[in-house]
Amino acid sequence: MTTADTVREMAGEKTITMLTAYDAPTARIVDDAGVDVVLVGDSVGNAMLGYDSTIPVTVDEIASRTGAVARATDDALVVSDMPFLSFGVDESESIEHCGRMIKEEGAGAVKLESGPHTVELTERLVQLGIPVMAHLGLTPQRVNELGGYTRQGTTEEDAQEILDLARAHEEAGAFSLVLEHVPANLATQVTEAIDIPTIGIGTGPDCDGQVLVVNDAVGLSDWSPPFAEQFGDVRGEMKSAVEDYVAAVEGGEFPAPEHSHQETEVEDIY
Ligand code: KIV
Repeated sequence: MTTADTVREMAGEKTITMLTAYDAPTARIVDDAGVDVVLVGDSVGNAMLGYDSTIPVTVDEIASRTGAVARATDDALVVSDMPFLSFGVDESESIEHCGRMIKEEGAGAVKLESGPHTVELTERLVQLGIPVMAHLGLTPQRVNELGGYTRQGTTEEDAQEILDLARAHEEAGAFSLVLEHVPANLATQVTEAIDIPTIGIGTGPDCDGQVLVVNDAVGLSDWSPPFAEQFGDVRGEMKSAVEDYVAAVEGGEFPAPEHSHQETEVEDIY
């Protein structure tokens, strides 16, 4: 069973693989395929729930998805991604929400979209035994402030702030750091500056690991960001299977005799 400590120790030793999953069957596939970390991302909002951002995702939605993923995962570390405003407003409420994912839903760690406001909270959660994955660079929960899902760390000042916050979260006890959509040379710099592993998305090859949204990786999304790669065509496969089903039902080929049973001695059953 992979733990937060195991992942921390992978820095510089093994390239970490992380994918999102939001349900039991997907988690089982991702875990069986050997992924190190399964993230129950708040990207569930866009990927599965039909929202156009992660902003509306609720604690209950993440909790229910975390439970499903944790029940289906044997080896990987399950990380629950805390939704917008579920942390950082009030300390005891933040602890309660994060604790619920560990205590009731079976996650092994939580992820917080990080900033200056999460340094102390990270320290407190870690003191209480809740492992924290930090997240810097593009933090999609700030979409309304950023005005879009734009690249971050592109000025010297921004890059310095990301570097400082990475160090501060390491010091606060975070066991790893997601870096999203920052220049590859900044990701390299951050990776060299801290001892905990960096896990990149849209940050080039030099992080200690990589993460993608599973729908993008397997080709289920109808849109995916330019830095993602589709390693399959699940959308095409599903569409073709559904079209075959429709044709078989309409054409009278399904159900076939092997899908049905006949009972002649009805009185024997009732
Ligand atoms: O919610 C999510 O899927 C994420 C990853 C993209 C890192 O935060």
